[in-house]
Amino acid sequence: MRTQVAIVGGGPSGLLLSHLLHLQGIDSVVLEQRSRNYVEARIRAGVLEQGTVELLTEVGLGDRLRREGLVHDGTQLYFGGALHRIDFHALTGKRVTVYGQTEIQKDLGDARDRAGGAVIHEAEDIAIEGIEGDAPLVRYRKDGVDDALRCDFVAGCDGFHGVSRATIPAAVLKTYERAYPFAWLGILADVPPARDELIYSAHDRGFALASMRSATRSRYYFQSSVGENIEDWSDDRIWEELKIRFGPEVAATMQTGPSIEKSVAPLRSFVAEPMRFGRLMLAGDAAHIVPPTGAKGLNLAVADVRVLSRALVAWFKQGRGDLVESYSATCLSRVWKAERFSWWLTTLMHRLHDPASFERRIQLAELEYIVGSKAASTALAENYVGLPF
Ligand code: APR
Ligand code: PHB
Repeated sequence: MRTQVAIVGGGPSGLLLSHLLHLQGIDSVVLEQRSRNYVEARIRAGVLEQGTVELLTEVGLGDRLRREGLVHDGTQLYFGGALHRIDFHALTGKRVTVYGQTEIQKDLGDARDRAGGAVIHEAEDIAIEGIEGDAPLVRYRKDGVDDALRCDFVAGCDGFHGVSRATIPAAVLKTYERAYPFAWLGILADVPPARDELIYSAHDRGFALASMRSATRSRYYFQSSVGENIEDWSDDRIWEELKIRFGPEVAATMQTGPSIEKSVAPLRSFVAEPMRFGRLMLAGDAAHIVPPTGAKGLNLAVADVRVLSRALVAWFKQGRGDLVESYSATCLSRVWKAERFSWWLTTLMHRLHDPASFERRIQLAELEYIVGSKAASTALAENYVGLPF
């Protein structure tokens, strides 16, 4: 089989890239190792930057997003026993939209179906060859039969655990990594959100986040230890801990109910450089990971794919290689800023030291400075709503 762009991985990065290329008349095939059901059921974050919403809308993926997405003008910070509002719209003129990644994955899958796009699920043992030449080959097995895809470019959209990144020679690839000494314990439940905006809490017992998926579905997280066993956390025990970390005022309006999903996830920062080697371009989680604080993961993936699709369009339609050449540097400049923001917000909000320590007092002083200073709250807001593409 032959195609112009072989896309490894059918998460949001891979499917969005294939959609954007299709709109420009460029042919691609997506190879995904999991089943469609598995990919569409995965529960991930759910806050979209304004630029992400604008892009999805421009490319015809905005209908359900506009109907079901919840537009938020600001957020709440809880510390020192009080709630403080950060008004994104007043500070930056921009807003964010709460819309689950699960829904975006379904919208993308439907769009590929409508266009008759080639998405091969349950493709096993993918191996990428010849990226230093001009006709790479992607080998895979489907239903026990070996097959291969000849192409002009390979897009590595296969997430953090994929195979694409490892195709770049070790002597070329440089990675930067930070693991955090805590995890997030998350719960999803069909109860209305406590407030109509998200609440980020920097409690003495540790961080907590009140988020949502809709007017009737809530998503909560709290900082736990890395080795935490989810079996030790009954729904009741989770709700009790959350109520403490959001304080009595929010606890009074928090509705509790049975969990639909519960999990413990570690936090990590990771960047791989360069994001292109020969005819292989990495995008999304294959190239970088951010801790979830601030919900930048999906937004970064969308920004990469936008840059990548423009580079490929310039290559195929105008015979220009300059945007392919500059792809890695263009993405990394934005990636590192989002890495910085996610790391900073994580460090600011989580319990890292004893509540009686000097470091904790500095954390509280910084929080007070942010809510009391227009310059400082604007810096938070403009990163949260999304830096320019
Ligand atoms: N072969 C084929 N597919 C693979 C392979 C492989 N060897 N390894 C992984 N995959 C698939 C995974 O099954 C997954 O569906 O690649 C896809 C990668 O999807 P994501 O992990 O969702 O990464 P990405 O599309 O870059 O989206 C980034 O998702 O992980 C969140 O926080 C992240 O929101 C961000 C967004
Ligand atoms: C989520 O709803 O899953 C979410 C929201 C905001 C974050 C992180 C996760 O900062």
